[in-house]
Amino acid sequence: MVSVSFGDVTPPMARLRDAGMRTTTQVCALSDLDAAHEAGVDVVVVRGAEGGGHGRNSMGTLPLLQMVLERSDRPVLAAGGIFNHRGLAAVLAAGAVGAWVGTAFLGCTEAAMSSAERAHLFTAAETAFGRVFDVAQRYPWPHGYGGRALRNRFFAE
Ligand SMILES: Cc1cc2nc3c(=O)[nH]c(=O)nc-3n(C[C@H](O)[C@H](O)[C@H](O)COP(=O)(O)O)c2cc1C
Repeated sequence: MVSVSFGDVTPPMARLRDAGMRTTTQVCALSDLDAAHEAGVDVVVVRGAEGGGHGRNSMGTLPLLQMVLERSDRPVLAAGGIFNHRGLAAVLAAGAVGAWVGTAFLGCTEAAMSSAERAHLFTAAETAFGRVFDVAQRYPWPHGYGGRALRNRFFAE
């Protein structure tokens, strides 16, 4: 299964479908859900504002999950702030078919980060949502998308 998110997903979804692939996309708002349905995705990932990395800062995982489950006829995975069996149980109880986990996998030794970075990540007090890191690296992300990362001095300054 191939996941394509954060922008106009219709053209890549059509190419993937023609190639016989299953597809999914990360839905961060109800407007993204309409686009996902129109693009013909097989699976919907509901990605709440708690999620690490890129997305929207619009709605938390649980409220968005409930709304999408009422509106979608596709299997739904929940993403954003899920990191252990308790979170998985919560979203399964709500009706998701599974969880889509990002940040927690940074704890794996296979993740491309140093042990010092890993220790810092899992003891950090606060995250921040913004465009700072994209702007600094001159990444032209589509309007409305930012990213959640650790709040650090670079972000503040
Ligand atoms: C380090 C990192 C890199 C990510 N890279 C991508 C990516 O390349 N493409 C993508 O669609 N989502 C990416 N994500 C977002 C995840 O797919 C997922 O939505 C998010 O991590 C789920 O929330 P969680 O971090 O609270 O588990 C990334 C997340 C993290 C933390």
